Amino acid sequence: MTAIQITKVEKSYKSLKALGGVSLSIEEGEFFGLLGPNGAGKTTLISTIAGLIRPDVGSVAIHGHDVVTDFRAARGKLGVVPQELVFDPFFTVRETLRLQSGYFGLKNNDKWIDEVMGELDLTNKADVNMRALSGGMKRRVLVAQALVHKPPVIVLDEPTAGVDVELRQTLWKFISRLNREGHTVVLTTHYLEEAQAMCQRVAMLKAGQVVALDTMSALIRRISGSQLIVHLASGDLPEDLRHLVSHDEHDSGNSGGNKYSLRVNEYTDVEPILARLRESGAVIDEMQLQQADLEDIFLQIMDKGAL
Ligand SMILES: Nc1ncnc2c1ncn2[C@@H]1O[C@H](COP(=O)(O)OP(=O)(O)OP(=O)(O)O)[C@@H](O)[C@H]1O
Ligand SMILES: [Mg+2]
Repeated sequence: MTAIQITKVEKSYKSLKALGGVSLSIEEGEFFGLLGPNGAGKTTLISTIAGLIRPDVGSVAIHGHDVVTDFRAARGKLGVVPQELVFDPFFTVRETLRLQSGYFGLKNNDKWIDEVMGELDLTNKADVNMRALSGGMKRRVLVAQALVHKPPVIVLDEPTAGVDVELRQTLWKFISRLNREGHTVVLTTHYLEEAQAMCQRVAMLKAGQVVALDTMSALIRRISGSQLIVHLASGDLPEDLRHLVSHDEHDSGNSGGNKYSLRVNEYTDVEPILARLRESGAVIDEMQLQQADLEDIFLQIMDKGAL
């Protein structure tokens, strides 16, 4: 089943087009990353998913429920962790979570509330007023709030902004568990190594448009390929492998030594290169396969505007 169906969504603020016709289909059980620079439209898109703002054109459905015409059903399937910290300062953490449960018509939800607080390391803050919490603690409560009704679809808008290393790890462990148990997760973050570690598929937004959409592994492979770095103890690179030497190497003036950086597109490209080296009598002293990472690809895509 499709967890989130976004169809040709457009949203303008006066003359500024925040979303310029976004279509995305996120399947149930996916861990999906929504990436893009500041102002790309990520939060605007999440607000339309949450039914907080209406698109000018297009529609969004959660598990088949339109977020405008069938708001309550759609909202019930969804847990959103907003980017901005919003909360009522006069309630304690536990009261905040009970109120949120009540909003979804859940009574006797304390067992799950306790479990969520435990997972997010909030148990010893249960009876503390929201205003007395630190910024990172408040963000934990926002995450807990999004999860009180065990929503099948969880959307996190920069959940780790301003959050310490320990909570990041706790949070990812918990969110991964929920994803393994079948929850769909959509994540925006500027920490690209987090996205790379967690997300199976990624959309990149730029100025309100989707400029890349693919699985994480395909994106990383397709755009930059990898580098096979070989250090030769003796012998030299055979002529017929010279076309693989990467440009960076020439640029940095390293090409004269016995260390070469060769472009490979697939892991299966490595074997014939090694066989050819052996055949030519070259002896490898050291070897390393260096993968392009999401940050390289992100910068490349944002630079060029498209794949
Ligand atoms: N309520 C609003 N009124 C006017 N302009 C808005 C409003 N909300 C967002 N915008 C504009 O829409 C564009 C997209 O903003 P949005 O918050 O969706 O970006 P974002 O991708 O979430 O960025 P960030 O990474 O900084 O959170 C920006 O140019 C922003 O200034
Ligand atoms: Mg945002």
